[in-house]
Amino acid sequence: MSSVFSRSVSARLTPRSVNSPRVSVHRKWWVTQGPSFSNLAMVFCLASVLLVAGCIVYLYAFRYFGRGSLVAGFFDESNVCNVFDGSWVPDGSYPLYNSTECPFAERGFNCLANGRQDMNYLKWRWKPRHCDIPNFDVHEILESLRGKRVVFVGDSMSRTQWESFICILMTGVQDPNTVYEVNGNKISKTIRFLGVKFQTFNLSVEFFRSVFLVQQGLPPRHGPRRVHMTLKLDKMDDINQRWIDSDVLIFNSGHWWTPMKLFDAGFYFEVGGALKLGMSINSAFKMALDTWASWVETMVNTNRTHVFFRTFEPSHWSGSNQRACEVTEQPLSVAKANDRSEFADIIAEIVGNKTVPVTVLNVTLMGAFRSDAHIGTWSHPSTILDCSHWCLPGVPDAWNELVFSYLLTNGWKNIR
Ligand SMILES: *[C@@H]1O[C@H](CO)[C@@H](O)[C@H](O)[C@H]1NC(C)=O
Ligand SMILES: *[C@@H]1O[C@H](CO)[C@@H](O)[C@H](O)[C@H]1NC(C)=O
Ligand SMILES: *[C@@H]1O[C@H](CO)[C@@H](O)[C@H](O)[C@H]1NC(C)=O
Ligand SMILES: *[C@@H]1O[C@H](CO)[C@@H](O)[C@H](O)[C@H]1NC(C)=O
Ligand SMILES: *[C@@H]1O[C@H](CO)[C@@H](O)[C@H](O)[C@H]1NC(C)=O
Repeated sequence: MSSVFSRSVSARLTPRSVNSPRVSVHRKWWVTQGPSFSNLAMVFCLASVLLVAGCIVYLYAFRYFGRGSLVAGFFDESNVCNVFDGSWVPDGSYPLYNSTECPFAERGFNCLANGRQDMNYLKWRWKPRHCDIPNFDVHEILESLRGKRVVFVGDSMSRTQWESFICILMTGVQDPNTVYEVNGNKISKTIRFLGVKFQTFNLSVEFFRSVFLVQQGLPPRHGPRRVHMTLKLDKMDDINQRWIDSDVLIFNSGHWWTPMKLFDAGFYFEVGGALKLGMSINSAFKMALDTWASWVETMVNTNRTHVFFRTFEPSHWSGSNQRACEVTEQPLSVAKANDRSEFADIIAEIVGNKTVPVTVLNVTLMGAFRSDAHIGTWSHPSTILDCSHWCLPGVPDAWNELVFSYLLTNGWKNIR
């Protein structure tokens, strides 16, 4: 299985050569112009050589040392290549793994095992418009993750990415028994913590369920009866201490910020100990993210920890009440989905305002094409229709490919 991944990766290796000056042109010029120009030509050649050498040194320094600018170069729209802007292209070397052979891919996400017949949805690769995702292989990733702690925090979309991350890495592990959940727990929807250890690599890949990222509390004693729980928008989730001591920290939040999951379930907002009954969901989301960003600034050692925030993962329900949807056989040619774009604006503003280095994993557009990649009726147990979550293997693998390529391209921070 490891070879499958290596093959798929090397297949998309695009040679990246720096264009060298056209030496042949210079030579011709040198011959025909006679000795009076030779000094000038020599200077010209020398200048070209210096220019190329300068470029190489610059690129090298840019790649390995200029972290701040590199974040911009790799991930920002204003610079060289925005890896989040692109399209899906067919690629027969996919998928990256077989969920049935990965003990950490939960049955609920294994569409093939749950009866899906068409297979085309497995064979797409994300291709940024102006570049290729750098080539890597799973052994290289495992080596670079040796001794590290990778932590995912968020809702079930984070759990999916956590599973995908582990399943991709397991294709490079010889003995699957050396990879285990530290407490022997089984994956479930409501579990608060799951930690998988790759013993050979002393690597820990963990998931913490924290769907709002901020703290949940009991309602005030004399509050309205409809208030069953509060969300303390100015306080981080009480398990936040367990996220800090990590090398990679990947957050998401979004799918639970709906009237149905909040107000209909008796959740209301609280700030500074006071109920905020009339507060809009967007304002609350913004306040929670602000709390999160300040927490990153003050509590996380960003010299060591790479912090990512993944944007909203689009859904493809056909109505607004999440009762109907159709999973297609092909991706859409035009991105079209419920993408909660107001959340993207909030994330961009909050992250842009802070001085802390947080990398936005802007996966919203890439998912918006993939009406073919949702679970639909191939869930387990198969009683519900689901056009929010994704089949595994599938779209979350592409999120992880971006994480891997980011970490390999930008190098690791100084650790300890
Ligand atoms: C995945 O693995 C299972 C068990 O080894 C096998 O039966 C199945 O055919 C594989 N699926 C694919 C798509 O290769
Ligand atoms: C394993 O990694 C942890 C950090 O995640 C480190 O504290 C520990 O010393 C490492 N153990 C070995 C045997 O290398
Ligand atoms: C992070 O690195 C900067 C610059 O090297 C240093 O000034 C700062 O003290 C470091 N912070 C921590 C928490 O180690
Ligand atoms: C994500 O990318 C989309 C499309 O390129 C863009 O409109 C949006 O502003 C981006 N969001 C963030 C948070 O960077
Ligand atoms: C971002 O900074 C501007 C200027 O300092 C401020 O007006 C705005 O409220 C800030 N936004 C957030 C979300 O903190």
